[in-house]
Amino acid sequence: MLLAPAPKKKASAASRVAAQIAADKRFKILEAHIKKFQGRHDALIEVLHKAQELFGFLDDGVLHFVSDMLRLPASRVYGVATFYHFFKLKPQGEHTCVVCLGTACYVKGANKVLAAIEARAGISAGETTPDNKLSLLTARCIGACGIAPAVVYDTKVAAKQTPEDALKHLTQWI
Ligand code: FES
Repeated sequence: MLLAPAPKKKASAASRVAAQIAADKRFKILEAHIKKFQGRHDALIEVLHKAQELFGFLDDGVLHFVSDMLRLPASRVYGVATFYHFFKLKPQGEHTCVVCLGTACYVKGANKVLAAIEARAGISAGETTPDNKLSLLTARCIGACGIAPAVVYDTKVAAKQTPEDALKHLTQWI
């Protein structure tokens, strides 16, 4: 008897997504945040806000993750994300830098880190450089207070950032 070939393509795409989620700490942080709501569907907007703070924008992988974690249909999650103008579905700049300004990060100097980045990039928080190289965002708390002040450079959550650390990082981008 001949066996049907395994659906390799689908499995490898799923495992790629799983590997991406496992390697990216931001999904762990988002998962912990979602768990606080104990699966409440009315937490969707709050969860999407947190996701945008962490990732800078909401791509397909993030929206599917939220849909799975909240056990909501992907169509509902996409519907909400596309309805509200404050949710961004695409990166504004080539690189994204999110400076956490939550209390723990603020008292450890996050405002100085942000000021250094703003001065170097010539933009304010919430803006993108004219060459589209960098979008600078802030967050209320990304859920990593133990490593404050925290900054997310693209996909990487960086611990205990100083203005010097941030400027060093930015030299690779701008
Ligand atoms: S205040 Fe910055 S991670 Fe919590």
